[in-house]
Amino acid sequence: MDLRVQQASVTEIDTPLLVISLFEGVTQLSGDAATVDSALGGLISRLIADGEISGESATVTVIHNSGNGLAARRVAVVGLGRPAEFEIENVRVAAALAARKARDLKLDSFATVVHGGPSAGPPLEDAARAVMESSILALYRYEQFKEATKSKHEVKSFTVVAGEANQQQLEGVAELARVTCDAVMKVRDLSVGPANFVTPTYLSEQARELADKYGLEIIVWGKDELRAHGMNAILAVNQGSAQPPAFVALKYTAPTGRKTLAVVGKGITFDSGGISIKPAEGMEYMRHDMTGAATVLGFVQLAAAAKLPVNVLGVFAATENLPSGSAYKPGDVFKAYNGKTMEIVNTDAEGRVILSDSLAYAAEQKPDAIIDFATLTGACRVALGDHATGLMSNNQPLADALLRAGEKSGDRCWQLPLWKVYGEQIRTAMADVRNTGGRPAGAITAGLFLKEFVGDVPWVHLDIAGTAYADRDQTYVAPYNPKPGATGVGVRLLWHFCQAWKDA
Ligand code: BES
Ligand code: MN
Ligand code: ZN
Repeated sequence: MDLRVQQASVTEIDTPLLVISLFEGVTQLSGDAATVDSALGGLISRLIADGEISGESATVTVIHNSGNGLAARRVAVVGLGRPAEFEIENVRVAAALAARKARDLKLDSFATVVHGGPSAGPPLEDAARAVMESSILALYRYEQFKEATKSKHEVKSFTVVAGEANQQQLEGVAELARVTCDAVMKVRDLSVGPANFVTPTYLSEQARELADKYGLEIIVWGKDELRAHGMNAILAVNQGSAQPPAFVALKYTAPTGRKTLAVVGKGITFDSGGISIKPAEGMEYMRHDMTGAATVLGFVQLAAAAKLPVNVLGVFAATENLPSGSAYKPGDVFKAYNGKTMEIVNTDAEGRVILSDSLAYAAEQKPDAIIDFATLTGACRVALGDHATGLMSNNQPLADALLRAGEKSGDRCWQLPLWKVYGEQIRTAMADVRNTGGRPAGAITAGLFLKEFVGDVPWVHLDIAGTAYADRDQTYVAPYNPKPGATGVGVRLLWHFCQAWKDA
């Protein structure tokens, strides 16, 4: 979808739908709302007085324009909630609902002001970015495998109305919003894509394409190289699969910038549980179990497209986790890339197994920090639900930086402790560590398992089991996210993190 920035007044802009916004409880209109209201002969004020427009968050009212004080054919008034409770999320929701309204009305385009700018608190750039990104992301659909039932209507473009003073600034924001949404939508496409299509080989090809396009350094290892390099943990999980595994490391080198961030992802293209097989109900969602790897690809793409001033090393291992006569088994012991040994107790705790080799590889490259993304545990989803990513770390300043980036980006994170006592649960007589610690604190014991493989590199583990995708039954899904579908969580988190981290 095309995003344009146009310098114009709200009364002059020629559009099938002009989107403006309103705070709840406001009786005296100001700014764009006041301008549009008087062009409509006070219609908005009357609708407010009659209680038909409230300004409540997540409400949209469409008014038809029959006069000639306004060039727009229709006006959508979106609510921003009470000023005292205002947060940038309200802007994201308002923009997303307006965009979806334009699609429902089968319009080809719409125009919008920037909601809740400096007068409400957030800097113009933040508010503008929220409007732009949410509008694009709200209209995302995954229809690659739809034929007869393909949607017939798509909005083709939208325009953000700018003033004379901020036109240039908004053009810059728009460029960033475009490349950010491209990256988020890439993550969504890969995450939701069926496992017979998004295979380990497919993911490695995606990495190669990215490397070719942006001139990145890349290594792709198959079975032979994994064996030669002692990446036995990845091979272990791959034993039951007919699809070959892939280990990928790709490096974006910043034109300027001295820090290197390693981003590591879990790339299980389908998780049946293996010999410790999962129940059939809902197993189709385990095609999303490679979302961590998709996040790596999406973020490296964004870094390269936006010329991020931070070097990014993207690392992931990809394989299916399936049962078969050759599959790895409970009780098996394997030695990972860093020489540590693990006893497999449950083959369904496979994510931490493949991450062990990937994290050890990343740590060996001596980055300034490692951040991993993994749909790692159902326990994390039980603890935090669908609205926060579980965060665990061996370095509190780094953890704090990600928590802040979470608030800023909307990809919110919540920290769980990695206290040593929990580690007792993953001790075993058979090896250095075992791959499950029982049901209590399941997200934490998974985090502690990973910690064994990062050495002393500052590291944050992000468990996105609850936030990576929304299923059909989820109670609340933000309107800029698909339901059901993948969210693309993490890309914007990392972007905001890097902005603060690059010169810290
Ligand atoms: N991929 C799953 C975790 C998951 C579950 C992600 C639900 C998203 C939604 C992971 O590999 C897994 O199966 N974890 C087990 C660990 C257990 C065997 C210790 C789990 O959470 O049950
Ligand atoms: Mn599993
Ligand atoms: Zn899994």
